[in-house]
Amino acid sequence: MHTNRIDHIGIAVRSAQERLKFYKGFLGLQVTDIEELPDRGLRVYFVKVGDTRIELLEPMSDNSEVSGFLEKKGEGIHHIAFNVIGIDDAVRLAKESGLQPLSEEPKMGAGNTRVLFLHPKTTGGVLVELVEGAH
Ligand code: CO
Repeated sequence: MHTNRIDHIGIAVRSAQERLKFYKGFLGLQVTDIEELPDRGLRVYFVKVGDTRIELLEPMSDNSEVSGFLEKKGEGIHHIAFNVIGIDDAVRLAKESGLQPLSEEPKMGAGNTRVLFLHPKTTGGVLVELVEGAH
Protein backbone atom coordinates (compact mmCIF):
# COMPACT_ATOMS: atom_id res chain seq x y z
CA MET A 1 0.00 0.00 0.00
CA HIS A 2 1.18 3.52 -0.80
CA THR A 3 -0.06 6.70 0.92
CA ASN A 4 -0.33 9.87 -1.20
CA ARG A 5 -1.67 12.70 0.92
CA ILE A 6 -4.30 13.75 3.40
CA ASP A 7 -7.49 13.21 1.42
CA HIS A 8 -9.77 15.03 3.83
CA ILE A 9 -10.50 15.81 7.44
CA GLY A 10 -13.93 14.67 8.59
CA ILE A 11 -15.76 16.97 10.97
CA ALA A 12 -19.03 16.02 12.67
CA VAL A 13 -21.56 18.84 12.68
CA ARG A 14 -25.16 19.13 13.81
CA SER A 15 -26.05 21.59 11.05
CA ALA A 16 -23.82 22.10 8.03
CA GLN A 17 -25.65 25.31 7.12
CA GLU A 18 -24.75 26.72 10.52
CA ARG A 19 -21.07 25.68 10.28
CA LEU A 20 -20.73 26.88 6.67
CA LYS A 21 -21.06 30.40 8.03
CA PHE A 22 -17.51 29.80 9.28
CA TYR A 23 -16.03 27.75 6.41
CA LYS A 24 -17.60 29.80 3.60
CA GLY A 25 -18.40 33.08 5.28
CA PHE A 26 -15.23 33.57 7.32
CA LEU A 27 -12.59 31.37 5.65
CA GLY A 28 -13.94 32.06 2.16
CA LEU A 29 -13.88 28.40 1.10
CA GLN A 30 -16.26 26.80 -1.39
CA VAL A 31 -18.49 23.74 -1.12
CA THR A 32 -17.61 21.59 -4.13
CA ASP A 33 -19.96 18.68 -3.55
CA ILE A 34 -22.90 17.65 -1.39
CA GLU A 35 -23.69 13.96 -1.20
CA GLU A 36 -26.29 11.91 0.66
CA LEU A 37 -25.23 8.51 1.97
CA PRO A 38 -28.53 7.06 3.24
CA ASP A 39 -27.07 3.72 4.36
CA ARG A 40 -24.74 5.64 6.69
CA GLY A 41 -27.39 8.19 7.64
CA LEU A 42 -25.19 11.04 6.46
CA ARG A 43 -25.32 14.14 4.32
CA VAL A 44 -21.74 15.04 3.45
CA TYR A 45 -20.51 18.48 2.40
CA PHE A 46 -17.05 18.69 0.82
CA VAL A 47 -15.26 22.00 1.29
CA LYS A 48 -12.17 22.47 -0.87
CA VAL A 49 -8.99 23.69 0.81
CA GLY A 50 -6.20 23.74 -1.77
CA ASP A 51 -5.28 20.11 -2.53
CA THR A 52 -7.31 18.69 0.31
CA ARG A 53 -10.83 18.98 1.68
CA ILE A 54 -12.86 19.33 4.80
CA GLU A 55 -15.72 16.82 4.96
CA LEU A 56 -18.65 18.08 7.04
CA LEU A 57 -20.63 15.09 8.29
CA GLU A 58 -24.23 16.00 9.06
CA PRO A 59 -26.62 13.39 10.44
CA MET A 60 -29.81 12.72 8.44
CA SER A 61 -31.26 10.59 11.23
CA ASP A 62 -30.75 9.79 14.92
CA ASN A 63 -28.89 6.55 14.13
CA SER A 64 -26.42 8.02 11.66
CA GLU A 65 -22.74 7.13 11.71
CA VAL A 66 -21.93 10.33 13.63
CA SER A 67 -24.92 10.47 16.01
CA GLY A 68 -23.14 8.61 18.82
CA PHE A 69 -20.06 10.81 18.39
CA LEU A 70 -22.14 14.02 18.50
CA GLU A 71 -23.95 12.81 21.62
CA LYS A 72 -20.77 11.84 23.46
CA LYS A 73 -18.28 14.44 22.30
CA GLY A 74 -20.26 17.12 20.54
CA GLU A 75 -19.23 18.69 17.25
CA GLY A 76 -15.59 18.43 16.21
CA ILE A 77 -12.93 16.49 14.32
CA HIS A 78 -14.23 12.98 13.67
CA HIS A 79 -11.56 11.38 11.47
CA ILE A 80 -8.55 11.97 9.27
CA ALA A 81 -8.52 10.38 5.82
CA PHE A 82 -5.39 9.37 3.94
CA ASN A 83 -5.52 8.85 0.20
CA VAL A 84 -3.88 5.53 -0.64
CA ILE A 85 -3.17 3.18 -3.51
CA GLY A 86 -3.68 -0.50 -2.83
CA ILE A 87 -6.60 -0.46 -0.39
CA ASP A 88 -7.32 -4.11 -1.18
CA ASP A 89 -4.22 -5.02 0.81
CA ALA A 90 -5.11 -2.71 3.69
CA VAL A 91 -7.20 -5.10 5.80
CA ARG A 92 -4.49 -7.76 5.79
CA LEU A 93 -1.67 -5.27 6.33
CA ALA A 94 -3.56 -3.53 9.13
CA LYS A 95 -4.19 -6.80 10.96
CA GLU A 96 -0.56 -7.80 10.57
CA SER A 97 0.34 -4.46 12.13
CA GLY A 98 -1.93 -4.92 15.13
CA LEU A 99 -4.49 -2.40 13.89
CA GLN A 100 -8.22 -3.00 13.96
CA PRO A 101 -10.09 -2.42 10.68
CA LEU A 102 -13.77 -1.57 11.23
CA SER A 103 -14.86 -3.78 8.34
CA GLU A 104 -13.59 -6.97 6.74
CA GLU A 105 -13.18 -5.27 3.38
CA PRO A 106 -13.22 -1.73 1.98
CA LYS A 107 -16.68 -0.12 1.62
CA MET A 108 -18.05 2.32 -0.92
CA GLY A 109 -17.36 5.90 0.12
CA ALA A 110 -18.49 9.27 -1.17
CA GLY A 111 -17.68 10.11 -4.80
CA ASN A 112 -17.02 6.54 -6.02
CA THR A 113 -14.18 5.99 -3.62
CA ARG A 114 -13.49 2.89 -1.55
CA VAL A 115 -12.77 3.39 2.11
CA LEU A 116 -11.60 1.48 5.17
CA PHE A 117 -11.67 2.78 8.73
CA LEU A 118 -9.18 1.85 11.46
CA HIS A 119 -10.28 1.85 15.10
CA PRO A 120 -8.85 4.79 17.06
CA LYS A 121 -7.86 2.61 20.00
CA THR A 122 -5.23 1.01 17.74
CA THR A 123 -3.97 4.23 16.08
CA GLY A 124 -3.28 6.44 19.07
CA GLY A 125 -6.72 7.95 19.43
CA VAL A 126 -7.39 8.96 15.83
CA LEU A 127 -10.16 7.40 13.77
CA VAL A 128 -8.29 6.86 10.49
CA GLU A 129 -9.98 6.48 7.11
CA LEU A 130 -8.06 5.07 4.18
CA VAL A 131 -9.48 6.23 0.83
CA GLU A 132 -8.72 4.92 -2.62
CA GLY A 133 -9.98 6.74 -5.68
CA ALA A 134 -10.31 10.22 -7.07
CA HIS A 135 -12.31 12.96 -5.39
CO1 CO B 1 -14.26 10.71 5.48
